[in-house]
Amino acid sequence: PKLAKAFIEEQVALIKEQVGDKKVLLALSGGVDSSVVAALLIKAIGQQLVCVHVNHGLLRKGEPEQVIEVFRNQMNANLVYVDATDRFLDKLAGVDDPEKKRKIIGGEFIEVFAEEARKLDGIEFLAQGTIWPDILESEEGIKAHHNAGGLPEDMDFELVEPVRILFKDEVRVVGDELGLPHDMVYRQPFPGPGLGVRCPGAITRDRLEAVRESDAILREEFDKNGLAGKIWQYFTVVPEFRSTGIKNGKRAFEWCCIVRAVCSTDVMTATAAEIPHEVMVHITDRITHEVAGINRVLYDFTPKPTGTVEFE
Ligand code: XMP
Repeated sequence: PKLAKAFIEEQVALIKEQVGDKKVLLALSGGVDSSVVAALLIKAIGQQLVCVHVNHGLLRKGEPEQVIEVFRNQMNANLVYVDATDRFLDKLAGVDDPEKKRKIIGGEFIEVFAEEARKLDGIEFLAQGTIWPDILESEEGIKAHHNAGGLPEDMDFELVEPVRILFKDEVRVVGDELGLPHDMVYRQPFPGPGLGVRCPGAITRDRLEAVRESDAILREEFDKNGLAGKIWQYFTVVPEFRSTGIKNGKRAFEWCCIVRAVCSTDVMTATAAEIPHEVMVHITDRITHEVAGINRVLYDFTPKPTGTVEFE
């Protein structure tokens, strides 16, 4: 906490020095990183910060509503909400290459921000919740994390990245120190490309809905069973292939839902979490009965490496 306090003071001073009386645009996803960056910037420059929450149609169930509630209503932040769902999903239609999907999502993000910036007078800076592992992995060429640079050259936003030297656990300590709500600071990380990377292959609206609904059930059950705070990340993945099953006495040729739950401290390595058998049986029962198009649930035991946390 003492180090966090010093870090905050230092960053607040650096932000003030870098930004002066200019305006800063922030992509506020509602995740830990961008939320902490928002809180740091609000502390440093208050209303000079314009938060833009882009709903790319790949967010988890209830997420856009929560971002509006916490930041606009509770923290009184200058927040612009943009529902760009159709725009993103149209561009992604038929695209099955993971890196292409990431590039499209990242590219659209930049464009949406540029459009918002043009509407707002005098935006000169773009704040980002880039953290150290994003930079490392981008440099190693493993994945093109969309929030680690990549701005088009004709765009003259200067970057403000106050948490770029931190690991995730350090970002959380800073968020605590800044007084952000506990459940927000300790919530599991969620990738920028969102549910898009949990819908392997070309994204379709129906399969995306199956990912969103199964994810909501998984989170609800992990919460109820006291697992939520103990596991680094947990989510569902719905690949393109179908298998034969039975529903209501009839042949059901449907997708399977893969449950991924991993333990990690710095996300560079991870192991599959141990979930009580009866909890998994109950989750399987709920997902196969409540989510349209799913007839099986599988559990992923793969550590990182050889897997990565996400499937794409
Ligand atoms: P992987 O799948 O590389 O994921 O083991 C490591 C961590 O990073 C998250 N992740 C992302 N976060 N933009 C982000 O902000 C991205 O493009 C991205 N891809 C993966 C992932 O959820 C995990 O926490």
